[in-house]
Amino acid sequence: KKVVLAYSGGLDTSIILKWLQTTYKCEVVTFTADLGQGEELEPARQKALLLGIKPENIFIEDLREEFVRDYVFPMFRANAQYEGVYLLGTSIARPLIAKKQIEIAEKTGADAVCHGATGKGNDQVRFELGYYALKPDVTIIAPWREWDLRSREALIKFAEENQIPIAKDKRGEAPFSVDANLLHCSSEGKVLEDPAVEVPDYVYSRTVDPEKAPDTPTVITIDFEKGDAVAIDGVKMSPATLLAKLNELGRINGVGRLDLVENRYVGMKSRGMYETPGGTILLPAHRAIESITLDRGAAHLKDELMPKYAELIYNGFWFSPEREMLQALIDKSQEAVTGSVRLKLYKGGVHVIGRESPYSLYSQDLVTFEEGAVAYDHRDAAGFIKLNALRLRTLGSRKRKLGV
Ligand code: ARG
Ligand code: SIN
Repeated sequence: KKVVLAYSGGLDTSIILKWLQTTYKCEVVTFTADLGQGEELEPARQKALLLGIKPENIFIEDLREEFVRDYVFPMFRANAQYEGVYLLGTSIARPLIAKKQIEIAEKTGADAVCHGATGKGNDQVRFELGYYALKPDVTIIAPWREWDLRSREALIKFAEENQIPIAKDKRGEAPFSVDANLLHCSSEGKVLEDPAVEVPDYVYSRTVDPEKAPDTPTVITIDFEKGDAVAIDGVKMSPATLLAKLNELGRINGVGRLDLVENRYVGMKSRGMYETPGGTILLPAHRAIESITLDRGAAHLKDELMPKYAELIYNGFWFSPEREMLQALIDKSQEAVTGSVRLKLYKGGVHVIGRESPYSLYSQDLVTFEEGAVAYDHRDAAGFIKLNALRLRTLGSRKRKLGV
């Protein structure tokens, strides 16, 4: 038996690693991904070696470009937000990790995969739906649902008994749970569990307090090509470089904080704090370029479908036919979504101040109140309104008769 473990190198997944070796007596393959979480990866290799993993069973991959190009950007073409506000920073990373784990399983002849998500959250669902979609006969090991290490003390004790190094700050209670990648950093649990209580300052890690942000705004231009951001202030950048740059611009201006109570797929409500600086700039910028390049029918249809698309990603159905069908529709809509948007970032706010496109549908000539286009005759409006009013007039007469 061989198992591919999604391994961060942290205490929890190191405990899982050891637990797999001792409980399942199986050969462990570790997979550590750089998704832009901002941590060194080499320590994970050293730690895996220390825990007895063979060098050829240690996989470390930089997935930042693939993550942004093939997951984050396609999702932003849809303007996806779960429950109106959440930019899905954790949700969108899971399918990529699942896909890589399965690839490594195929490569190394492993029959099982393992993740470190708890039995109460969304992430277990996202990982496992991904695994099953890509390797239908896979065996899944979810230690948090299986072991009897029910408390922090039990975990620490297990670590000590098994010579797993424990960082000093990890000895006490874990303060709260963090998940980070290039798109966002999310915090849940512990001090955040009471939704009536404000998020303490020390939980924030990616943004300055908007109240302490500079008194002068930052003005930037984002260029789009077919719905994807390609340049900032005229400088072309790869997807991951561009998102990292937006994160920095957002950070200094206190952009992208979100305190949210959301509905988990597994049924309960949970309170989380998200920092998505770059994404919080990208979304209104993308909407702004769409505002001049998308036809009303196209724009309204994709907006109607957006909540459905966002829910599919939140619930872990990235590898489903319905998500792929919606993606095809969304991608088709982006053919002319090219141009540039100017924004002002100021004390937590993102303000669009200009947009232009070679394919703009906006016609100053059509819209102006001054004497304008011949394509629009004021007199046509009277008939347009009258026919639209026909039902309302009929109903109005009846209302009078009914006296309601
Ligand atoms: N609630 C978010 C989601 O389901 C984040 C979950 C992971 N975050 C964490 N801090 N463990 O997408
Ligand atoms: C977890 O349960 O591992 C994190 C929270 C979630 O997945 O919703």
